[in-house]
Amino acid sequence: MANTDNDLVSRRRALMLGASLAATSALAACGGGGGGSITGGGVSSSSSSSSSSSSSSSSSSSSSSSTSVSALPDPSTAPALKDHFSANFLTGAAIEPYDLDDAVMKALIIKHCSSITAENCMKPTAIGTAEGVYDFSQADKLITFAQANGIQVRAHTLVWYQTAPDWFFAGDKTAANYKTIVLQRLERYITDVVTYFKGKVYSWDVVNEVIVDVGGTTTYREDSPWYIATGADYIETAFRAARAADPTVKLFINEYDTEVQSKRDKLVSVIQGLQTKGVPIDGVGHQMHIHATGDPDQAKFEAALTATEALGLINHVSELDVNIYPAGDFSTDYHTAANVPASIMQSQALKYRMVYSTAAAHASVKSVTTWGIADSHTWLKSVPVRLNLPLLFDEQRLPKRAFWAVVDPTFVP
Ligand code: G3I
Repeated sequence: MANTDNDLVSRRRALMLGASLAATSALAACGGGGGGSITGGGVSSSSSSSSSSSSSSSSSSSSSSSTSVSALPDPSTAPALKDHFSANFLTGAAIEPYDLDDAVMKALIIKHCSSITAENCMKPTAIGTAEGVYDFSQADKLITFAQANGIQVRAHTLVWYQTAPDWFFAGDKTAANYKTIVLQRLERYITDVVTYFKGKVYSWDVVNEVIVDVGGTTTYREDSPWYIATGADYIETAFRAARAADPTVKLFINEYDTEVQSKRDKLVSVIQGLQTKGVPIDGVGHQMHIHATGDPDQAKFEAALTATEALGLINHVSELDVNIYPAGDFSTDYHTAANVPASIMQSQALKYRMVYSTAAAHASVKSVTTWGIADSHTWLKSVPVRLNLPLLFDEQRLPKRAFWAVVDPTFVP
């Protein structure tokens, strides 16, 4: 079932509005002991080790579904995602510095991630305090953690319309040299920031979400403050400045809905234009904020990957999560994991399997990052405010049906 353009537009509008169990039990997911777990809500299992009917997401019966599903394997047997895919790509998660203050979360990241991304603390709003003034303190915390644990860092992001501090655009907008001034500020920011992180990160999302939403009549996102100030020139300036500051870091254009052909065609034409001008660009980041039901199917995801390959570029899946609600549904709220129909968590598991297995079949995919790691922390609980369970590990940080579907092709979700 295809998303309509209206679905996608309304979904995007909504996104723009915002932008433990006992530690011993949760640590089981990180390699310790612990018994089996039925998570993800709405699961009625005859083999469950618990018959709790509380609001806990573990081992509860659903009033909304009577689907029977098998018990999950013992979490202590969970393989490390980074080892499972070591021959294919880096496996990552977007995290916040405060995640590292949580021992369970920290252990989960160390076990499964060969890559991390700063969910927010490497954005210009976090780093670019004022023109020429930077705050690297939070980003440094992530870098130090990554280096201490042999984890690589996927850097996000240098230019995004949602996180562009006002100082970039200060001044008389009618002045003849206004555009030049804005581009010089951008060049300085990128030069300083990319230089600071040189040798510490393996890739940068140089520009994020520069293409208009599905259904838009233009090519570019023309209501972006960057576009308003400079037209599309900020994109070229950004890539050239990043390459000048670090000759080897991989430079990405990051987008969502790349699996939708109408949007992807625009992205491809923009990249081809940059390549024709000799602008340095290494890859496409496919965000993949997708849904348990509906698009994309494997063919649509694969079309996004092959379009990048045809341009001679590499692929990253940069922000993967699988929303439990359908695209365009902003009002349903299951409130607790126990209320989520089992069929949804099964669909989510199959969607995750599709993404990881398809990515593994393409040598062009060098990194797959989930946007968060466990359902205890996800942006989708705030946009809109409601329960959401979009990740591979549950609110107790235990591996979900989706995790097992990814690492075990014989597992029946
Ligand atoms: O840090 C402040 C805090 O000081 C303040 O008290 C609090 C009050 O609301 O806000 C905090 O900032 C929030 C920040 O997340 C950290 O939690 C911002 O309001 C909030 O807008 C911000 O949302 C982030 C959003 O990008 C906008 O930057 C989400 O966490 C983050 O997941 C999301 O990530 C984006 C990617 O960068 C690009 N692709 C889409 C993806 C999802 O929107």
